[in-house]
Amino acid sequence: MRFSTLGAGSVLLSSLCATSHAYRLPQIPFSPSDDSLGTSPHPPPGDWNPLEHMSGIAPYHDAPGADITPPDGCEVTSVAFLVRHSCIYANDDEWADFMEPFVNRLEKYQQEGGSFQGAGPLAFLENWESPINEGNLEALTGPGADDAFAFGKRLRKLYPHLFPPKDLGKGSSKGKKGRTDKVKEPFRIWTANSNRDVGTAKAFIKGAFPKRHEGDDGEGDGKYLSLIKVNNKEASWSSSLTPHKVCPAFTKEPGKPDAQEWLEHFGVAPLERLKKLMPNFEWALRDVIALMMLCGYESVIKGVGKTEFCKQGLFTAEEYSDFGYWNDLIYHKMTGYAAPVAPYLGIPWVNTSLHNLLEAPEHRHHRDGRPHLGLLKEGDGLPDPDRPPNATHSQSLFVFFTHREEPPVALVALGIWNQTTVGPLPTDHRPDNRVWKTSHVLPFLGHVAIEKLTCGSHKHPKDYARILVNGAAQPLPREDLADGPGKSCRMERFTEYVRERMEMFGDFEGACKKAE
Ligand SMILES: *[C@@H]1O[C@H](CO)[C@@H](O)[C@H](O)[C@H]1NC(C)=O
Ligand SMILES: *[C@@H]1O[C@H](CO)[C@@H](O)[C@H](O)[C@H]1NC(C)=O
Ligand SMILES: *[C@@H]1O[C@H](CO)[C@@H](O)[C@H](O)[C@H]1NC(C)=O
Repeated sequence: MRFSTLGAGSVLLSSLCATSHAYRLPQIPFSPSDDSLGTSPHPPPGDWNPLEHMSGIAPYHDAPGADITPPDGCEVTSVAFLVRHSCIYANDDEWADFMEPFVNRLEKYQQEGGSFQGAGPLAFLENWESPINEGNLEALTGPGADDAFAFGKRLRKLYPHLFPPKDLGKGSSKGKKGRTDKVKEPFRIWTANSNRDVGTAKAFIKGAFPKRHEGDDGEGDGKYLSLIKVNNKEASWSSSLTPHKVCPAFTKEPGKPDAQEWLEHFGVAPLERLKKLMPNFEWALRDVIALMMLCGYESVIKGVGKTEFCKQGLFTAEEYSDFGYWNDLIYHKMTGYAAPVAPYLGIPWVNTSLHNLLEAPEHRHHRDGRPHLGLLKEGDGLPDPDRPPNATHSQSLFVFFTHREEPPVALVALGIWNQTTVGPLPTDHRPDNRVWKTSHVLPFLGHVAIEKLTCGSHKHPKDYARILVNGAAQPLPREDLADGPGKSCRMERFTEYVRERMEMFGDFEGACKKAE
């Protein structure tokens, strides 16, 4: 099976394959398709799946309400994607702070012949070995590469007209039939330079492009396709691709005390349960977090449905949701509305993407009405290929792979899911009416996209911008900015809005100065 962690992926791709009309795409189901929850003292209800409530430690799943069907009379004429890399073995901080201390104590307990008698759902720990170690931290997992491949296939299905044709260059050798188009420069996919990002981008390319274009191991053949690796600290691009890495004022710390306070509320009951199951083991409150993290990480290492940490039903649905909220608290002060620097970090990608959408090649149609947007031919008067990455482009689809911090700061720059308008996040209970829910944006391959929709007749087309988060359209935060079809915004208004936001949050250097 190719889609080992994308339980939903195969359903989704097969439903995609069943459609014939390229511009009326099917509703993408938000499919909680995990049948892996075994019997346990606390079985989560029905189709409830912990992996959909685990913030950033989960295989890709669409956000609720996902449906990228263009509104009636509209087609997508350009789109920019900001995508988190695919599944990794473990984030090094999460390993060091939570999982490793638990794993170390467990190994000691195993070696010393500690008892697992009566451990019930924890009995599997007697023979369990950690698949995570210092050597594979942060490395892309096998299922993670499969998911990135599936994501590439999926985008090709969803936006076929925005990719270069699959048969491009096929007939270029003499005497063979096929396309002989000469392209002036290759189609580009961009990625941050870390191995997990590059590996994700290469797997994506293999899924989205024919063998002929994919080049050596997904690097692109250099003629029709190029993978652009952007150094994490490259000045011309870093503020839009990896801004948190070039911003001294950015910090992962401020939400941690809130999360700890919250853990001290919700973690006590599950900790007591664990203690009863293995009374001789030296439990710590943080182990509640460690076991939940291992449910997520083992799912993306071994494949969904293959980890006892999820299957044994160690925690209730409520407790997993509490863990999701624990993550929301951390990210809210790190990349959300309670992080003063967040909108400054997110606005460069928004500005660059707006620029790219506006500069995307105009609508051109074949005689049969099929739009022809995926490539420009020689003679189209393209700018110099050495131009900066945010200059005018010859393509209409922009895919950027980067780190978990970037999609949420782009949301903040856009003013979407502004928790401040609802209220602060408490640390003594979980407010289910909050709008800041990181499980909906942060899974591996989680993304924010801006689509340019072109609606109306070919003679009088009107352009709109639509924001998607993991497949679900998100209205911009003012009524006059969300009155277009399908929660979209008139392109002129969106352009004005982004300029306003640039005025408010454009001072990247100023905002990123570290307080002395
Ligand atoms: C491209 O990025 C550079 C550096 O961030 C910036 O100075 C320049 O204004 C940008 N140009 C465009 C056209 O967005
Ligand atoms: C923002 O985008 C506009 C083009 O839409 C460009 O002129 C400007 O330089 C950009 N600003 C930055 C800081 O990149
Ligand atoms: C979030 O909402 C608050 C309250 O309306 C507003 O003051 C603030 O500017 C918003 N934040 C961002 C980044 O848009």
